[in-house]
Amino acid sequence: MGELLPPESAIPEKLHAAMRYSCLAPGKRLRPALAMACAEAVGGSELSVIDAGCAIEFVHCFSLIHDDLPSIDNDDLRRGFPTCHVKFGEAVAILAGDALFALAFNTLARGPWTDDQRVRAILSLTVATGSEGLVGGETIDILSEGQPIESQTLETIHVRKTAALIAASCEIGAVLAGATKEQSNRLFQYGQAIGLAFQIADDILNETSTPEQLGKAAGSDRERGKATYPALFGLDVSRQMALEKAQFGIDCLSEFPNRDFLESIAQYSVERLH
Ligand code: IPE
Ligand code: IPE
Ligand code: MG
Ligand code: MG
Repeated sequence: MGELLPPESAIPEKLHAAMRYSCLAPGKRLRPALAMACAEAVGGSELSVIDAGCAIEFVHCFSLIHDDLPSIDNDDLRRGFPTCHVKFGEAVAILAGDALFALAFNTLARGPWTDDQRVRAILSLTVATGSEGLVGGETIDILSEGQPIESQTLETIHVRKTAALIAASCEIGAVLAGATKEQSNRLFQYGQAIGLAFQIADDILNETSTPEQLGKAAGSDRERGKATYPALFGLDVSRQMALEKAQFGIDCLSEFPNRDFLESIAQYSVERLH
């Protein structure tokens, strides 16, 4: 990512500094890891999709910068550091997110794959990111604050705001490594299931953990009246639901001989401590 991001010395320096600050902060890199693992699961090499992993992480970082803005979640801490808008100001943070979004598609379009693979990967990322995916999920999340919510709407928020990009990470890694349609569909389903489990776990951690442990705010969902699994179902049922989703994800992997790492990521999605 450090090589794909513009250097801080290029104008506008402050914009590039903000992009690098947020992207190179110590995130878990779950989405690139999934893209690479799915490439391997279909018989490709993980390094052949590393630029696609970076492209997906650029979209993820854009979503974190905008999610933390005062007009959205208004958070001050991310990945253990001040959020982008606290460090660089709100205008530069918004623009850094915008530029990362463009850089993601630029990176996919320039990658070393066939034209057909590139178009399929770009298409997958647009669906995951747009109004039917992450941005749509973020919108329903914000509009639902302090409102009574049905379980179906809650699942829709989580599938769109989080699972969509995780599912696309799996699909893109598979497609760029030459997967059959059936294989990429299976891995998409796996990603969607563990992505939902991952977001339920995120809701649980917001209730039960600390900012020191998470590197971001804790207890904030309840304060803002966010639509979360613990708020609707309680902690115990939420934990059970996360485990069930992760198991469903593991069940999608039965046709892949090379599945150990993907299974361990499914488990990690619910057992993680940050
Ligand atoms: C945070 O994602 C936002 C959610 C979808 C819950 P991650 O938990 O993957 O964040 P980083 O990349 O490790 O910071
Ligand atoms: C997760 O948002 C999804 C996106 C950032 C798009 P949340 O608001 O639930 O996640 P955190 O807790 O800020 O990481
Ligand atoms: Mg949010
Ligand atoms: Mg947030």
